[in-house]
Amino acid sequence: MTKPSISSKSSRFGGAWPHVVVIGAGVCGLGIAWRLAQAGCTVDIFERGEAGHGATWAAAGMLAAGAEAEPGEQRLLELTRISLAAWPNFAREVEAASGLTIDYRDQGTLVVALTHDDVEQLRFTYEFQRDLGIELQWLSGAEARAREPHLRPGVAAAVYSAGDHQVDNRKLALALKQAALGAGVTLRERCPVRALAVEGERARGVHLADGVFIDADVVVLAAGAWSREIGGLPVEALPPVRPVKGQMLALQMDPAAPLLSHVLWAPKAYLVPRVDGRLLIGATVEEKGFDDAMTAGGVLSLLEAAWRVLPGIEELPIAETWVGFRPTSRDDAPILGPTVVEGLVIATGHHRNGILLAPVTAEAVSGYVLTGEMPAAAAQFSAERFAAAPSLATVGGSGR
Ligand code: GLY
Repeated sequence: MTKPSISSKSSRFGGAWPHVVVIGAGVCGLGIAWRLAQAGCTVDIFERGEAGHGATWAAAGMLAAGAEAEPGEQRLLELTRISLAAWPNFAREVEAASGLTIDYRDQGTLVVALTHDDVEQLRFTYEFQRDLGIELQWLSGAEARAREPHLRPGVAAAVYSAGDHQVDNRKLALALKQAALGAGVTLRERCPVRALAVEGERARGVHLADGVFIDADVVVLAAGAWSREIGGLPVEALPPVRPVKGQMLALQMDPAAPLLSHVLWAPKAYLVPRVDGRLLIGATVEEKGFDDAMTAGGVLSLLEAAWRVLPGIEELPIAETWVGFRPTSRDDAPILGPTVVEGLVIATGHHRNGILLAPVTAEAVSGYVLTGEMPAAAAQFSAERFAAAPSLATVGGSGR
């Protein structure tokens, strides 16, 4: 691939294109690597497993800036909205660059209430979100069933969020990998980074597990829930990120006669219908470290919650069960941009929003690598906000 001519963007590297090492080939690492390679950088990306097979694979692909907005997360909403708006173009661009489809679907999201208590809770959330300017439509039970005829007849009410979409995150992972490779990124899978190399308070490269040293002008740490496992990080640069376990399962619908067409939030579970008829049901939110066991209780609670809203699922075969680990920071928001180590840039902590925030993360972090500047909405999420209290909190996640 021909490199674009050097623009003023590269000036902080003295007119030369920086060599960038990215640690972690999830949706964030791949997106950043792709953008940097497009800009003309030489990019090596190292992945401990298979590209896109960590949290990116485990996710459900909901692009729900609106329906998932929660009290206390108004700052994050600014970023999720920017990324949601960027998604249609990002999807087109990834598909064009890779030649692969990622099944971006814009049917919107329904949040349903079954009981009187659910309606009260839904009304509160609806009013909170409407006050933030999110476009929502309140539906009676009958109106909800007109949109989704297989909903339980007793469904009490629902909220429709037209702006919240979905993408097939596994197809996205494969497509982003192809796009990055096509732009010239060198990807090394099953090649863990053992440690960051720091000299005189500056990142100089990485030591691989096999002992090889790779030098770099910039190292981007995008290793998700595993970001603290990279050796050589000074204590002040350790990101306050922990794994938050999520159990999920998929049922197989008849793709010609699906039970559901919208993303559906029910009390205690969400349901995501795919083009191929898979119906994803998720997810538990558990503080269990890297425990990857599927449990009877986890499956029971997900199936029960899904069945209460969509009883027809009882006839469907179980296609798959899996566990994922959300990379969750102390305030459930991402950590983006500079660190205390010069030349070490970070992109982790995306918690429940990794897929949604992929476009803005790729743009903001690659932009920071090239120019030393972050857009204001992303700059609020730098690691600096944790500087005053560096210990890693282990408080629970904010699952519904
Ligand atoms: N974003 C969905 C989840 O974290 O389960």
